[in-house]
Amino acid sequence: MAILEAENVIKLYRQYDSTVTAVDRVNFKAEDGQFIAIIGSSGSGKSTLLHIMAGLDKPTSGSVRIRGNDLTKMDKDELSRFRGQFTGFIFQKHNLIPQLTALENILVPTIMCNKEEYKYEEHLKKLIKILGLGDRLHHLPSELSGGQQQRVAIARAMINRPQVLFADEPTGNLDRANADEVLSLLLETKKEIGQTAVMVTHDLTIAEKADRIYKMDNGRLLLFRDENGQYMRNSFEAETDKAKM
Ligand SMILES: Nc1ncnc2c1ncn2[C@@H]1O[C@H](COP(=O)(O)OP(=O)(O)O)[C@@H](O)[C@H]1O
Ligand SMILES: [Mg+2]
Repeated sequence: MAILEAENVIKLYRQYDSTVTAVDRVNFKAEDGQFIAIIGSSGSGKSTLLHIMAGLDKPTSGSVRIRGNDLTKMDKDELSRFRGQFTGFIFQKHNLIPQLTALENILVPTIMCNKEEYKYEEHLKKLIKILGLGDRLHHLPSELSGGQQQRVAIARAMINRPQVLFADEPTGNLDRANADEVLSLLLETKKEIGQTAVMVTHDLTIAEKADRIYKMDNGRLLLFRDENGQYMRNSFEAETDKAKM
């Protein structure tokens, strides 16, 4: 069974008398352990789709299933429990809680899950080490650099060892060296716990490491490069031709 499935997902934003189709009839499937990259120009619907697939937003129509559980059928409480247990999300902007220290921010998902902190100790140590946050744990977000804040957000998203990690341009604010470190961490977790990751990125070096690359174009999700390294020029042209007809 696919770990993550989206079926005919549509998201419309109505504003006054106009309607924006942010996500247009998207079908998507990811198997266990796959790393999927989504590229595409600004405003093409990447963030909207990612939020919907992660259960942070509801589609106008269509369904999203994680391990067969339909997120669109869950109520608010069910959904937030499910998200806490199965998913992690790295936002484009880090969204840290300003009053909490770096360590407290990282541990927020474990509190929401009502699990004991000790279960995370080993994993926590490892994340801190890999992300180089050791001497910054008791600082407030405002006392950290942009890159450090983003690393805290990454540790927070990964602390529960989510089966599916969603990331919206997670390395956008990082320099090359830091971006590469984050990517290695991701690939390591993927190998270690078979984590599935769906990442929106502008960074082609990162996208190239993905098993599959999709391109979002005006709300449509198009396969750009498959698992075998095959680029889908033809399907692109077919889509464009269809649109012209
Ligand atoms: N909350 C919202 N209300 C109205 N329109 C929105 C909202 N969020 C996104 N949009 C519109 O949906 C489209 C896709 O946006 P977004 O998913 O943020 O694109 P991307 O992440 O690819 O830059 C854009 O036209 C954007 O203006
Ligand atoms: Mg976006």
